[in-house]
Amino acid sequence: MRETKSVTIRPARNVLGSLCVPGDKSISHRYAMLAALAKGRSRFENFSPGADCASTLGCVRALGCAVEQDAQGAVNIEGLGSQLRAPSAPLDCGNSGSTMRMLAGIVAAQPFTSEMIGDESLSRRPMKRIISPLTSMGAKIDSADGGCAPLRIKGTNLHGIEYQVPVASAQVKTCVLFAGLLAESQTTVEEPSRTRDHGEVALRAFGAKIDRQRNALTIQGGQSLHPLEGYIPGDTSSAAFFLCAATMFPESNLVIDGVLLNPTRSALLDVLAAIGSSISMVRVEEQHGELLGTVTLVPGVGKGVTIEGGLTALLIDELPVLAAIAPFTGGLEVRDAGELRVKESDRLSAVTQNLRAMGAQVEQTDDGWPIPGGQRLPGGEIESFGDHRIAMAFAIAALRAEGETRIRGAECVGISYPGFFEDLERLVER
Ligand code: S3P
Repeated sequence: MRETKSVTIRPARNVLGSLCVPGDKSISHRYAMLAALAKGRSRFENFSPGADCASTLGCVRALGCAVEQDAQGAVNIEGLGSQLRAPSAPLDCGNSGSTMRMLAGIVAAQPFTSEMIGDESLSRRPMKRIISPLTSMGAKIDSADGGCAPLRIKGTNLHGIEYQVPVASAQVKTCVLFAGLLAESQTTVEEPSRTRDHGEVALRAFGAKIDRQRNALTIQGGQSLHPLEGYIPGDTSSAAFFLCAATMFPESNLVIDGVLLNPTRSALLDVLAAIGSSISMVRVEEQHGELLGTVTLVPGVGKGVTIEGGLTALLIDELPVLAAIAPFTGGLEVRDAGELRVKESDRLSAVTQNLRAMGAQVEQTDDGWPIPGGQRLPGGEIESFGDHRIAMAFAIAALRAEGETRIRGAECVGISYPGFFEDLERLVER
């Protein structure tokens, strides 16, 4: 049995001060994978310190690239060009769906067979969504029942395809783009609604050319990449926890420096503004096509909001924390969020169960929740379900409860944010 840790969160009065959050997880994964395909040394400052990105680095190393952290803490990757080395053991993706889905697009184009494995949670998550386009491109992929990991991918010379992604998924889009980069001829991938664009932004930063027509991206195969040196902006989805914490207390004032402001990731700021908070952005700059800057939040009146359609897809990682704080704001209605069921846990049910455990009134629909606002909650016993975003979301909600809240299985925050509880304690006033 893996060791689990419980953390007890006491009610707070306020959230005050400033912080920098760790490097963005989505960008760190993509930079590491593309660095492997570039010839020469790439160097990344503020690379995500979480276990998920460590899984990607482990796989990149297993594919023959030297990976090391230098004296300044930056991650250095010695890329091999488009041909990697056959791994001597299965590629262990740990808990990381991003690692398995996006790297599959790269190993499918290699002249060897790779096996990809993951932990119990990852082995339950749907992989047909990448098996299907990669098979159309020529790869041979075996999976466990139901199209789940472990995957056995027999790489080959892929050919380009035109592919319409059936679900809004940036991981699937990026997988197909990475495979398209290594394929013969051109590949077009079209998504049903806009998702985070770090795959295409990163490909351009490493020197590839990609065209966009509305929601369709086209990449020509056979382009070579150059190495990249850069700073990875703070993770917007990690910043979200503190922004939501500050939103719950009228006297809060929170500053987050160097945070990613890519418009396909910053919809949370619009939602918090709709709730009534004042948000300002200063020192905005661009790094390799990604915007970052300093965000200040001063909370305002709690109005109710509805999240649905394309907005749901853009907020997919922030929905657990928005739902967790909803009883303390003007309420929240979420629709079209069926994808939450196939994340690191079934986040739809995990949120419902934990809100009820804290004493909240909430209904669960097939693809969301209506959550009434203006509730007072006693607090309670929370189960993380081994899911980092569930543990952090309820650590935030617990700050406004009337009593203590215990988060069981809190060690999973290390998947994306190992220093989360320390940063939280530093900003909270009691
Ligand atoms: C991610 C995309 C999203 C998100 C995940 C990271 C990415 O998943 O939930 O945490 O980096 O592309 P889907 O692509 O499955 O929606």
